[in-house]
Amino acid sequence: MSNSNGEQYDSKKYLDMDLLRFTTAGSVDDGKSTLIGRLLYDSKSIFEDQLEAIEKTSRSSGEEEVNLALLTDGLKAEREQKITIDVAYRYFATPKRKFIIADTPGHIQYTRNMVTGASTAELAIVLIDATKGVLTQSKRHAFISSLLQIPHLVVAVNKMDLVDYSEDRFNEIVQDFRAFAKKLEIDNITYIPISALVGDNVVDKNGKTSWYKGPTLLHHLETVKVDASHNVVDFRFPVQYVIRPNQNFRGFSGRIESGRIKPGDEVTVLPSRLSSRVKEIVTKDGNLDEAFPGDSVVLTIDDEIDISRGDMIVRKNNVPKITTQFEAYLCWMNEEEMQPGKQYMLMHTTSTTAVYIDDVVYRMNVDTLRREDAEILKLNEIGRVKLTTAKPLFIDAYQVNQRTGSFIIVDVASNVTVGAGMIRATSTEDGSHGMHSTSEREKRTLVSPDVVWEPWNISREEREKRNGHQARVLWFTGISGAGKSTIAKAAERKLWDSGKQTILLDGDQVRHGLNGDLGFSPVDRTENIRRVGETAKLFFEHGNIVLCTFVSPYRKDRDTVRKLFPGAQFMEVHVTCNPETAHQRDPKGLYEKAKKGEIKNLTGFDGEYQEPENPEVVINTDEMSVEAAVDMVISKCIDL
Ligand code: ADX
Repeated sequence: MSNSNGEQYDSKKYLDMDLLRFTTAGSVDDGKSTLIGRLLYDSKSIFEDQLEAIEKTSRSSGEEEVNLALLTDGLKAEREQKITIDVAYRYFATPKRKFIIADTPGHIQYTRNMVTGASTAELAIVLIDATKGVLTQSKRHAFISSLLQIPHLVVAVNKMDLVDYSEDRFNEIVQDFRAFAKKLEIDNITYIPISALVGDNVVDKNGKTSWYKGPTLLHHLETVKVDASHNVVDFRFPVQYVIRPNQNFRGFSGRIESGRIKPGDEVTVLPSRLSSRVKEIVTKDGNLDEAFPGDSVVLTIDDEIDISRGDMIVRKNNVPKITTQFEAYLCWMNEEEMQPGKQYMLMHTTSTTAVYIDDVVYRMNVDTLRREDAEILKLNEIGRVKLTTAKPLFIDAYQVNQRTGSFIIVDVASNVTVGAGMIRATSTEDGSHGMHSTSEREKRTLVSPDVVWEPWNISREEREKRNGHQARVLWFTGISGAGKSTIAKAAERKLWDSGKQTILLDGDQVRHGLNGDLGFSPVDRTENIRRVGETAKLFFEHGNIVLCTFVSPYRKDRDTVRKLFPGAQFMEVHVTCNPETAHQRDPKGLYEKAKKGEIKNLTGFDGEYQEPENPEVVINTDEMSVEAAVDMVISKCIDL
């Protein structure tokens, strides 16, 4: 075997050809537990006989430890991330191979279980009840398997004893399934008629299906070729912990998710993009000359670079996509349906960040494999979505790298895993939000390494001295019609009349020019507030009292803006009122339009508004006059 540079390497080092991880998925009652029981039971004699021998060989080649770690590591990682998973991992062996089954219960949350259980599987068994035929659930399982790119699929047509071992019935089911599977990206499908209850074609043949000339299920599991699915080209090392037992040692622990590394190799650390060389690859059994996918190691590097958990060590000329916006296939796994605009938590390798689901591009109909329009995803639904994260992620497409191409979404309040995602490849069909265009926007929003910050010509302090007052940012937030602009305008007039340097940035004005290209989707609103924050920063640094009136419905966006300014000089003013009052005031006739369905996502109507947690000022315009509100804002915010 050789990599793309033509170098030779020993596949044995990182690939265990003797281990097969597979998953079983079935609907309720189609006999999955019986099948697993049958597999374990019928092969048990072999297992017991051979166990000792296998253990001995494994121990001498140091293999068993590695394999067991594979099993337990998965569980540990999940426990660490506090994900509740209903997947039972079972371990069994025959003289030919060792097996890990991710057994995913077939109740209502099967999608979730299947996704989590199957994500590392090399083979999936989809069970079909011969008396029922190909059901939507069977199709869903096959679709998820193809989405997860599980290379081998076994369609086990079970309960053959209940259809008199009929060859016709079996062929009918095979035909149905084939018609469906044509549209899936799975090359390798094996159809096996079985009776888990009676035991036909699971481990042994009992002669009832003599027309079937193929292998038994176990024989197939033992002999199916496990491909080198590991990505050995793209080195990705998400940092889990910084290890510093004493002043002389500083190492970064983690698991090599893909690629290989040797001491002396040049590496780059993300997000800082600082480069260094690998000094040592440390393990508890001594240092390594080279490390491979799946190895848990501690790397030390030549230079003192600031690195922390969630950072990623990669090769200089092979860097993943660094982005806050991307598209993915998402399986929704929670009873509570998806809420666009709500803040969730995203976990990707060792990194955790806030995330918003901006848009559902389409929902997949798993029966027909057609794309359908949808605004949200509900339990067990799968679709393509657009996401925005608070922190940049270092991602690859799932097709290229399953580890850095997948993530889960967790509900912040309940800590429940609500979605599992697979990042899509860059593709030209990706509209304005795909990875290509994202990188375009990234190019614009992340500082280009060649742009050097130019210090202010005249310092803010100098300007403040001349103005006779400090610079400030007063950020008015609240739903449409709450009274933000009215109060901000009156406050600006009063400040201006008393000789202050003021600037007023208003949503309706900014959106005509600077932000004329933005609408009201969550992504656009985030971008709106980001740009306005940066603009306010420029005016602020020029010594002004900057009054900003923006709905700014998302806490994350407001907090991002807040961080641009020195603590005491940014003031959040929450202008609030009873939504009914805002609906009645309706200064721009927007609520009327929203009621008629002419506009969507109107904050205060059908759009989410996340109230500030610790605003400096709260003004309830149901209770307070404009004059009183202005006095309050000025006295609380401007100690001039
Ligand atoms: S923000 O949400 O991105 O902060 P911003 O404050 O700039 O919004 O703009 C809000 C103004 O846009 C409102 O005053 C209103 O006049 C107008 N507008 C039009 N459609 C909407 C909508 N769907 N939601 C909120 N404001 C809207």
